[in-house]
Amino acid sequence: MRHPLIAGNWKMHGLRAHAQRLAAEVASGVPAPQAVEVAICPPFVHLADAAASLAGSAVALGAQNVAPEAEGAHTGEVSAAMLADVGCRFVIVGHSERRQHYGDDDALVARRFRQAREAGLVPILCVGETLAEREADATATVVARQVDAVFAAVGANGFGDAVIAYEPVWAIGTGRTATPEQAQTVHAALRDRLAGHLGEAAAGVRLLYGGSMKPDNAAALLSMPDVDGGLIGGASLKAEDFLAICRAAA
Ligand code: G3P
Repeated sequence: MRHPLIAGNWKMHGLRAHAQRLAAEVASGVPAPQAVEVAICPPFVHLADAAASLAGSAVALGAQNVAPEAEGAHTGEVSAAMLADVGCRFVIVGHSERRQHYGDDDALVARRFRQAREAGLVPILCVGETLAEREADATATVVARQVDAVFAAVGANGFGDAVIAYEPVWAIGTGRTATPEQAQTVHAALRDRLAGHLGEAAAGVRLLYGGSMKPDNAAALLSMPDVDGGLIGGASLKAEDFLAICRAAA
């Protein structure tokens, strides 16, 4: 049985007071112990404040990206060791917004993934197709390529307890959510691809869905056998909506 995970990707939203308030509202709204693992992923500058707000709660902290190097003269980057030091358990790598706009190709994502694992963080590897790729019936090929690139870099032994988030690019921030059946089809294909790399251990990998998951559609998506949680963007910015999705995962 895979422990469900709901992670909130705050993206580039909110100043310090908002981040402190939102983290505290989520922390107070998640009972411990809980049937669902819950995490929030604020912007880098808010991680220390969020860690303080989450202290003693059942909610874990995550980051939205990580440097592909361990340390050194890499202006503007944040290392995996720094994220672990501030209290992160998770880190998102390969989000489509970074792949599309900031040059994160499969090889760079794999390097970020490796740094996260070597610092003891749990990577949340984002994969997903564009609308053009879906319309060309290339979805399975695209997500397989994205997964394979990580295994080429770290090997089966290097995958560990990593999580994969399937985020169809055409569903992110659009309000156009994949149907539960569409999500299950890709998640099942991901599970099969993982089995080729991990054997039976593939059954234990958590596969999250991301892309306009909201309180009113979460239960249907989360009812699918290979949907083990969600990576939530817009709905994570309001505590009541994010907590409603967490309850739907229980
Ligand atoms: O990483 C999660 C994000 O890409 C999904 O965004 O706003 O469609 O829930 P949203």
